[in-house]
Amino acid sequence: MEENKVPLHVSMIMDGNGRWARLKGKERIEGHREGVESVRACTEYAIEKGIGYLSLFAFSEENWGRPDSEVSFLMELMVKAMVAELPSFMENGIRFRVLGNRERLTQELKDVIDDCMERTASNSRLNLIVFLSYSGKWDILQAAKRFAADMLADSAGPERLNDTGIGDFEKYLVTAGIPDPDLIVRTSGEKRMSNYLLWQGAYSEFYFTDVLWPDFRKGEFQKALDSYALRERRYGKVFK
Ligand code: FPP
Repeated sequence: MEENKVPLHVSMIMDGNGRWARLKGKERIEGHREGVESVRACTEYAIEKGIGYLSLFAFSEENWGRPDSEVSFLMELMVKAMVAELPSFMENGIRFRVLGNRERLTQELKDVIDDCMERTASNSRLNLIVFLSYSGKWDILQAAKRFAADMLADSAGPERLNDTGIGDFEKYLVTAGIPDPDLIVRTSGEKRMSNYLLWQGAYSEFYFTDVLWPDFRKGEFQKALDSYALRERRYGKVFK
């Protein structure tokens, strides 16, 4: 179907940086460094293809369990990448957002994130979203807590609760206002959701590739888009 040809929102589970490095006889962190180049290539290609939203799973809540040295390298890499890319976000009309559980982020990282988000807030060519310290279960739980608090604080809460629909609850997820991903790509041969966009991915198409994230550049992105263009999305209904 014609309207399905280019997805509005593509999301990437960037996997395989460590294996890429090992195969090259390098330290794991070199895989992450190279992975940032793939982020840049995919961002450029998303703009070229007219994709509205590109989101990236950069760090899961579970990733805090990695060795301290790797975690701090990744956090520092995010700071450096955001500082370095801000001018190109402005030149290219990129609205940049970071979503996730901020509790464990350093003040420096939070400040850089806030600065990038504020400065790019009125850009609209491409929405670039980084999920950082994010997990799908955490998101649904934080939404449920805030929803419950609002209901309890409202004298009309019991009636509002009865009338609550999917759309009313979704406003409490960190992705409020962002369309659900049409296509979720996972690199490195793994075929799992890994606690990513559990709610938002309910009807996403999946594309799995054995290519490791540092090797996932424009040509590989195009293959994912080609695969998506052939899908028939039925949303549980029957189309002829
Ligand atoms: C997964 O590979 C990759 C990560 C956990 C980190 C990805 C983060 C970046 C590429 C930095 C992105 C920066 C910005 C600004 C968006 P892995 O380490 O799990 O690889 P493995 O499965 O081979 O061990």
